[in-house]
Amino acid sequence: MASKDIVVAFDAYGTLLSTESIAAKLAEHFGKDKAQAIAAKWRLYQLEYTWRLNSMNQYEPFSTLTLRSLQHALKEAGESLDQPSIDALMSAYDSLSTFPDVGPALQDLASTPGIRAVVFSNGTKSMISNSVNKSPNLAPHAKVFEHLVVVEEVRKFKPAPEVYEHLAKTVGKSREEMGEMWLVSGNPFDVCGARAVGMQAAWVDRAGNGWQDRLVEGEKGRPTVVVRGLGEVVEAVQKHAGK
Ligand code: LAC
Repeated sequence: MASKDIVVAFDAYGTLLSTESIAAKLAEHFGKDKAQAIAAKWRLYQLEYTWRLNSMNQYEPFSTLTLRSLQHALKEAGESLDQPSIDALMSAYDSLSTFPDVGPALQDLASTPGIRAVVFSNGTKSMISNSVNKSPNLAPHAKVFEHLVVVEEVRKFKPAPEVYEHLAKTVGKSREEMGEMWLVSGNPFDVCGARAVGMQAAWVDRAGNGWQDRLVEGEKGRPTVVVRGLGEVVEAVQKHAGK
């Protein structure tokens, strides 16, 4: 086993936290199917807005984009909500449910030496620290994370290389050591961003659909490993380090 100092960076939304779980809150206002459709569009526009701002060399906090993308999704569905309901949805976004595999995996990680864990997200410091420290599912594991790394300082979103370089700087890794950092993410665009700067990446394929993203050809266009849940991450990382 190599004795390298390995950093494992967990993406938040779509990896630790289920953005689909907000549909339950939306279902207080709309039928189940409509709530699910609005939740899916909300997520889609939330990410699209980050990519569009990156391309335009502009920045707004992720909390602002989360609100504006909700308004976009509602409008497109021909719906609207009063301000207290919008406020309630936004605060629900700070305590999204975790995926079922998250708790046990973080518990295992706490007793695994040689791996440093961090959260690494587009979310604002306030959104991520609320989720990690206050959500009933994540709070018991908050101590596993050495840092909550967010993009506010660099004013860019994933997959801009500056964001992954900011992660490296925060955890004390040089450009030559990028390969000792792992991204764990359920988001293919995030996986490609990490691979593009030389990081390793574990793509979390909970649905078992296999890798479909075709943006980049070759090794850099695919994850180092594919896992079905976070419970497989430690073994995959250790196996790779021992090669
Ligand atoms: C995040 C986005 C990718 O948490 O969901 O960074």
